[in-house]
Amino acid sequence: MKNIAVLVSGGGTNLQALIDATVAGKIRNGRISIVLSSRRDAYALERARAACIDCCVLEPKDYSGRDNYSKALAQRLLEHKIDLVVLAGFMHILSSEFIKHFENRIINVHPSLIPSFCGDGFYGLRVHEAVLEKGVKLTGATVHFVNEITDGGPIILQKAVPVFADDTAKTLQERVMREAEWQILPEAVSLFCEGRLLVEGGRVIISDAQPGSFGH
Ligand code: GAR
Repeated sequence: MKNIAVLVSGGGTNLQALIDATVAGKIRNGRISIVLSSRRDAYALERARAACIDCCVLEPKDYSGRDNYSKALAQRLLEHKIDLVVLAGFMHILSSEFIKHFENRIINVHPSLIPSFCGDGFYGLRVHEAVLEKGVKLTGATVHFVNEITDGGPIILQKAVPVFADDTAKTLQERVMREAEWQILPEAVSLFCEGRLLVEGGRVIISDAQPGSFGH
């Protein structure tokens, strides 16, 4: 059974999708061991407590710089023997040391079809505002491994969602979350926990489930 840490900063609807998938038995061979929040007032913490998951607040303002903050996070993850780190609306950049330590073991969900509308400055509602401004007719979500390039790591899963003429950033965000993020994040986490993700030459290969493997 893989130990999963979920890092959050806000509402935690993606965390909720992971909790719901766990309860439904859809995260094969994985359990959420801890939720780490970068904000004391994040609603995601309520969701973790309601699901009886250990949680912990580490606010960047209490640390001098990104390196020290990442070190503090890493220490908590090591204490809990974490196998997989999931960034679910976690709005901070981690140090390169942290990323190297957990290479191909950090998964992020991003609310666009990478490589569009991603990178520095593209997060939360801003992504959807940029999508509407450009007038693209399709957007979506991407789950990828984290490397040192913001939103630039190997792509695991993507799902497209239509953009409608009367969308606001808010209505589009809701559709992208409901129809894409909440589906592909639990699916990618389960694939990782089942040992079915292989990174080769910067791309992710998803292997078939083994006959007779857990859950099949
Ligand atoms: C989600 O839409 C997630 O994709 C996005 O923030 C939102 C968090 O919502 N993440 C990023 O933009 C990271 N680049 P949640 O707290 O309800 O899961």
